[in-house]
Amino acid sequence: MTRGRRVLLLVILAAALQTAAAAALPEHRITNIFQPLATPAESEYNIAMLVFAITGVIFVGVAGLIAYTIWRFRQPSDAAQHQEPPQVYGSNQIEVAWTVLPILIVFVLIGVSARVIAAVENASPPQAALKVTVIGHQWWWEVLYPDYNIVTANEIHMPASRNGKNATYLQLQSADVIHSFWVPQLSGKTDLIPNRSNFMWMDPREPGVYVGNCAEYCGTQHANMLLRVVAEDPADFKRWTVEQQKRSVDDPGATEGRAVFESLACVNCHNITGLGKASAGSKFGPDLTHLMSRQSLGSGVITNTPANLRAWVNDPQTSKPGCLMPSMRLTPDELTKVVDYLETLR
Ligand code: CUA
Repeated sequence: MTRGRRVLLLVILAAALQTAAAAALPEHRITNIFQPLATPAESEYNIAMLVFAITGVIFVGVAGLIAYTIWRFRQPSDAAQHQEPPQVYGSNQIEVAWTVLPILIVFVLIGVSARVIAAVENASPPQAALKVTVIGHQWWWEVLYPDYNIVTANEIHMPASRNGKNATYLQLQSADVIHSFWVPQLSGKTDLIPNRSNFMWMDPREPGVYVGNCAEYCGTQHANMLLRVVAEDPADFKRWTVEQQKRSVDDPGATEGRAVFESLACVNCHNITGLGKASAGSKFGPDLTHLMSRQSLGSGVITNTPANLRAWVNDPQTSKPGCLMPSMRLTPDELTKVVDYLETLR
């Protein structure tokens, strides 16, 4: 093959790969506050830049004056060093200037910040807005869609909002200690506090997966309390809600695994809608009704693959030491059956 042909082939291959990647949702894996992709994040970015510009000018002014003074009034080498420098006592103009200017700057910063804080925190949801309740647990996120009767975990689906019309309002609560909800490209941090509801909203502009994490130390696995916002086209979001509203699949091939699962303490913590009384309403661990529709396990610690699921069920403490799910000490045969059953939960 000639060099030209090889280059051409590479270009075609790269284009094909790009098309394939565009079909799946793009992943915003870099949690970058400098690339806001929703209104609240953008307002906060703009404030940060304004503060940075003002303090930058002050820094250059002060540091420049200090540098100039050090150079200009360095110790002279000649006889002049024995002369006393001019003594200046007070100057009304200068004192008024350095009092009034900082006050003006502080008022500008307070005014701009207050406006954005009000817009981000106090905005009340319009009737049509999607409402989502997020409950922080040690160390995962429970996600409820009260209007759709959906319960899921760690991955928050919402419609993307190209026209700025589809905002999602989040009610933030905690089941145990204080957590903090942070998806840097979509909004600032908001605490989840026991016995209290905080609110925030976001309107992701581009479909994609936005990565975030808990931003308040909440115990051993705080750093592994990861979350994803999956922003999709409104039609795709609708499809997702329809799938999530279904009861769990009752695969006749997985009856044995289902029986093992039901006989174990798993059902005390995990709800699987359609499984029966034992698991109904269990809320201590993530809802597993549509476990296989999620991308990750252990709140973002490992990707949701069959091998990882098996390792997780075998001993969660290996992937996430200190997490509140114990190893159930299953025999290899029981493990295979339970994992086979879990994999039917699409
Ligand atoms: Cu939850 Cu840190």
